[in-house]
Amino acid sequence: MDRRLFIKMFASLLTIPSLPKTLQARSFIGHQEEFRRVLAEKPWLLGYLGTNAFEMKADLRIVSGRVPRDLRGVFFRNGPALHNIGPDRFLHWFDAPGMIQKFTFTDGVIHYHGRLVETARNLTEAKSGNILFSAFGTHRHDLRSGGSADGQNVANINIIKHANDLLALWEGGSAYIIDEHTLKTEGPKMWSPETTGLPFGAHPRIDQDGSMWNVGYSVNPATLILYHISADGKLLKTHILPQIFTPMIHDFMITSSKIVIIAPPYVGSHSMGTSFVDKFEWKAAQPTHAIVIEKDDLTAVTVIELEPFWVFHFGNAYDISSTEIGFDFVIHDNPDFLTKDAFSIMDGSWDGQDSAESRYAQAKLNLASKTALIDTLDEFGQAEFIRTHEHENLKQHRQVLMLSRSPEPGVYGFNRVNVFDRQSETNAVFDVGINELLEEHIIVPKHGDDHGFWIIGTTLDWTQGITNLSIYDGAHVMDGPIMKAELDLALPFGLHGNYITM
Ligand SMILES: [Fe+2]
Repeated sequence: MDRRLFIKMFASLLTIPSLPKTLQARSFIGHQEEFRRVLAEKPWLLGYLGTNAFEMKADLRIVSGRVPRDLRGVFFRNGPALHNIGPDRFLHWFDAPGMIQKFTFTDGVIHYHGRLVETARNLTEAKSGNILFSAFGTHRHDLRSGGSADGQNVANINIIKHANDLLALWEGGSAYIIDEHTLKTEGPKMWSPETTGLPFGAHPRIDQDGSMWNVGYSVNPATLILYHISADGKLLKTHILPQIFTPMIHDFMITSSKIVIIAPPYVGSHSMGTSFVDKFEWKAAQPTHAIVIEKDDLTAVTVIELEPFWVFHFGNAYDISSTEIGFDFVIHDNPDFLTKDAFSIMDGSWDGQDSAESRYAQAKLNLASKTALIDTLDEFGQAEFIRTHEHENLKQHRQVLMLSRSPEPGVYGFNRVNVFDRQSETNAVFDVGINELLEEHIIVPKHGDDHGFWIIGTTLDWTQGITNLSIYDGAHVMDGPIMKAELDLALPFGLHGNYITM
């Protein structure tokens, strides 16, 4: 990529002027004390209270079973944590400074360590005692823009290890390097001078050779940015895909030969003086686009029109033939979670009903006929946080892990762990009840076993105000956890995590 082209295209990211108050949406900030009053009536919102601590350490208490001997490693998670800055409270679940939660498994003992991701924004804001900057869903006329994409970076979505770098990921700006032992933030990852500070997505995909692909999206200019990074952390290539309207791309897929970007008709405008999410508009009458790119030639693009839907997360994609791709994902009717639920859980006004349906779905794209088949499985009900086994990466995978919730409304959150077998079309499920709310659970391959896996995940017991960590045997999830441990802290609900073998 030509350096001058990059600079020209992205110079406008560096300045974000504000508009008069009359043109602003949602121009207020929440209040911590108001949320605490609501929490007394709806204690199951505890996971959205947040923490005021910058760093926490504790040992977990194993209350049943034991840690499998082959689990010697670290389970890292990331998520928005400092929801309240002094008396102020962010309006949206995705706004707050990120915190890394680290669970270390050593000789059957589990240690916990949490630490704020020290981006420039997070440090400045956390120490100031007030919300200072506009965020994904929070805006007020006197809040600062941060001056650049990284000036707003809260690094609060995901954490991965690649090429010896532990990376805290956001999607609007740089990944941040974290010291895996101390959790100290070392600074933004700079892949190259040309790409420094550009949007780098939160869900990179690892290829069979260990290289990493990623996508970033920019509203102004309206573009998608592709990255390919070698197994040893060197930027191999980048490519810009100009867009007429920018879709919000949270996740994407790769197959052995292709990159697959699903672009729902939730598109950004250049409107200024609003929160980021308020720049986007759901165009319900327009199609979702599947943008399929040849890995060997990033200029070779096929676009297929699909029925309109919204998606956060994909499972795994694979080539069926040179012109057919299979994949699975969680389909949403629309992005109402982003624009309604993720606000109302933060101010406590959520009424116990999901604004949009979300269902497990399997899909096939045909590049020759430019058609798609999407098969939605309704039996799980509301679903999210889909994961697949890394040994089946880019292959026609057999199993998929996801969370779902029981159909009775009243308590917001996931309470079922599902392992769905795509071959036999059977689902193994364990229901933790309503006292615990599940965070994303992940698949950890068993040592020396190509197919077996452990499932690891955290839950919040909102009745006791503690966080539980559970391990399941992936082949017997319906039997419940083979190990359960308690942490005497009510950790804020996070987003994504990964396990690193030590
Ligand atoms: Fe995500």
